[in-house]
Amino acid sequence: MTVYLNGQFMPIEEARIPVLDRGFIFGDGVYEVIPVYSRRAFRLPEHLRRLQHSLDGIRLENPYGDSDWARYINELIARNPGEDQYLYLHITRGVARRDHAFPRPPVTPTVFMMSNPLITPSAELLQSGVGAITSQDNRWLRCDIKAIALLPNVLLRQAAVDAGCAETILIRDDAFMTEGAASNIFVVKNETLIAPPKDHLMLPGITYDVILEIAAANGIRHEVRKVSRDEVFSADELLLTSSTKEVLAITRLDGKPVGDGKPGRMFDKLYKLYQDFKRDVMRQQSPPYTGG
Ligand code: PDD
Repeated sequence: MTVYLNGQFMPIEEARIPVLDRGFIFGDGVYEVIPVYSRRAFRLPEHLRRLQHSLDGIRLENPYGDSDWARYINELIARNPGEDQYLYLHITRGVARRDHAFPRPPVTPTVFMMSNPLITPSAELLQSGVGAITSQDNRWLRCDIKAIALLPNVLLRQAAVDAGCAETILIRDDAFMTEGAASNIFVVKNETLIAPPKDHLMLPGITYDVILEIAAANGIRHEVRKVSRDEVFSADELLLTSSTKEVLAITRLDGKPVGDGKPGRMFDKLYKLYQDFKRDVMRQQSPPYTGG
């Protein structure tokens, strides 16, 4: 496995960072996860735009322009095996003596990237759907920033695993649903797909956008609006989306079946359309994005 660290490609075993890196000390950094289909980074301009939004959110200057990012990313893909990969990009505020305030003058940010094989959900999982639990959304008020400080998400996701489930659906202020611990969540009611609006309380998912675009292009009724806690519990279907899981049905919630307990019609439709989109659009982008 070849990784990228601060301008160089190297085997992962050789990648080292100093212990005073502010990512290690404070969780002071942001990240991105980008799926790669047929060796093409999917929606790279959109992922780079979200990365810029995260960097702006933590007041860290982007170390590279889009064409540099594209060059390093395309090289990382070429240096790793597999047609389908997922990329992890990680930028921290760099290495400095420990002090909460930003280093003055600024130090060079740390940039790390790695690639892993993209393993999408198995046929069994697609057929059965997955279980989820609900929990209070106890994160901060800037969940639109893809921050590497993921301790709340880690604990929330572990609570799902401890309950034999795949995801935790987060309820803010005991009133409305925001997203999952590591995914976006859609509710289906009366054949309408309902998505919470992108705001500071959720990560603006790239897969979320794809699903809404697919719904619009195929005449699927959809609404973007606040989703109440009660609507989650009375949903006909629940869906989760992310770059690595694509789209999955949630068929059990807090131990009770969602709808009839099987992946529903909306899931079947969106899953098929997503696979068509992958084949016809995601795999056909050429040439790769170069930032121009
Ligand atoms: N997580 N919300 C949260 C909190 C997430 O962590 C993710 C993705 C999403 C979905 O975003 P996208 O469709 O752009 O992947 C929503 C990634 C996969 C991760 O942290 O590994």
